[in-house]
Amino acid sequence: MSKMSRVRTFYQCQACGYGSPKWLGKCPDCGGWNSFVEEKTSPGGRLSSLPDMPGRSHPVPLSEVEGISGRRTPTGMREFDRVLGGGIVPGSVVLVGGDPGIGKSTLLLQIFSLISQQTGKVLYVSGEESPEQIRMRADRLGAAPGGINLLAETSLEGILDAAGKLSPSAMVIDSIQTVYTQELLSAPGSVGQVRESAARLVLFAKRSNIPVFIIGHVTKDGAIAGPRVLEHVVDTVLYFEGDRGHAYRILRTIKNRFGSTNEIGIFEMSDGGLREVSNPSELFLSERPQHVSGTTVVASIEGTRPIMVEIQALVSTTSFGMPRRTAIGVDFNRASLLVAILEKRAGLHLGGMDIFINVVGGLKIVEPAVDLGIIATIASSVRERPIDPQTCVFGEVGLSGEVRAVAQAEARLKEASKIGFNKAVIPAGSAEKIRGISNITIVGVKDVAECLKAVLD
Ligand code: TYD
Ligand code: MG
Repeated sequence: MSKMSRVRTFYQCQACGYGSPKWLGKCPDCGGWNSFVEEKTSPGGRLSSLPDMPGRSHPVPLSEVEGISGRRTPTGMREFDRVLGGGIVPGSVVLVGGDPGIGKSTLLLQIFSLISQQTGKVLYVSGEESPEQIRMRADRLGAAPGGINLLAETSLEGILDAAGKLSPSAMVIDSIQTVYTQELLSAPGSVGQVRESAARLVLFAKRSNIPVFIIGHVTKDGAIAGPRVLEHVVDTVLYFEGDRGHAYRILRTIKNRFGSTNEIGIFEMSDGGLREVSNPSELFLSERPQHVSGTTVVASIEGTRPIMVEIQALVSTTSFGMPRRTAIGVDFNRASLLVAILEKRAGLHLGGMDIFINVVGGLKIVEPAVDLGIIATIASSVRERPIDPQTCVFGEVGLSGEVRAVAQAEARLKEASKIGFNKAVIPAGSAEKIRGISNITIVGVKDVAECLKAVLD
């Protein structure tokens, strides 16, 4: 192999572009630390990392370009199709990232079993597990081996060669950290290798029209040669999240060239692999305590789908000088701001209090509609007065304590009514526009004080 004509490589500082024939810890030009990554020089002197897109060299009238919507292949797993935007697009490259052990290999094996039942041959490339191990897992999952072909290979050239010969209807690389190209000297998993391999896989997908799924491990800080460097080259980025201690797994769209972002798919890890959760509201509310203070339910929207989630707060007198504030599942700064609003606009004394906020089920909620839920649940905990379990809330809260209208109020109320809530405390601005939701009493509130009156008195 060493006799093969090797492409010349050099190391380049990712911060300022300074080049060096050897790896350096500190850039002599800009002074940056640990910023050198191996790059390939091609005869033209151009970096090879971003491949030319095939067939894009002529201008084409927009009206003559074929749409992709009709050519998507649904996998049959609805939660997965949803995050992709309706199915797999030919020639697309999807990055599936997540912590080690979260269930990425399991998910893709299940998906590929489903795809192969529809379209025949698929290729599962694993650099981490032997074919025997994968076979064992497939048996455990009850996944029909159908047209799944396994390849235990880590050399990119070998993978592309095999894929070209087999011409499968889809391919998965498990994982990108194990793949290396012979053209670079650095170790598999280094930034240079990961980026170069991914770029070549993208080129392969675009040329052959075969969809490629790339699995990537992310470490908690997401920094070390993680798939973060790939997010720009791929079409779709999905992150698989969840607590290994919990059974729930959430597949979240971070980027999607073929659909909306912020969609989520919810799964449950069981003995027989991942199971779809088609009714998440019921799941997240299943263990809700009744008639205790410091808990409330928010009608939230994740992507296009309303989900009812429980927010909990615990407020207690601090035993040290500095009160502790913790927020899990909601933005910490947002929560601090809401605490300040409660003090200033609703007259609650929270100065000497520890405040803990938690979103049940490991969900992370970023939309501002959750504000009113946080406000209500903190107040409920402080006053030790439970909120009626049949009541839900949502609304954005402004700095002067006003409650602002939020998008898709009607969809939220419908979900609440479906789950069995009979009262909803919502922004007055949204309430005006709503009519005709059955079985639910709508209380429109203009500010925080009105909200607290509506839920606590
Ligand atoms: P895996 O897909 O190997 O994770 P990743 O590829 O993201 O590293 O999943 C590993 C975990 O999933 C492992 O701890 C066991 C668990 N698991 C189940 O609970 N049930 C199952 O049916 C399977 C296959 C795995
Ligand atoms: Mg794995």
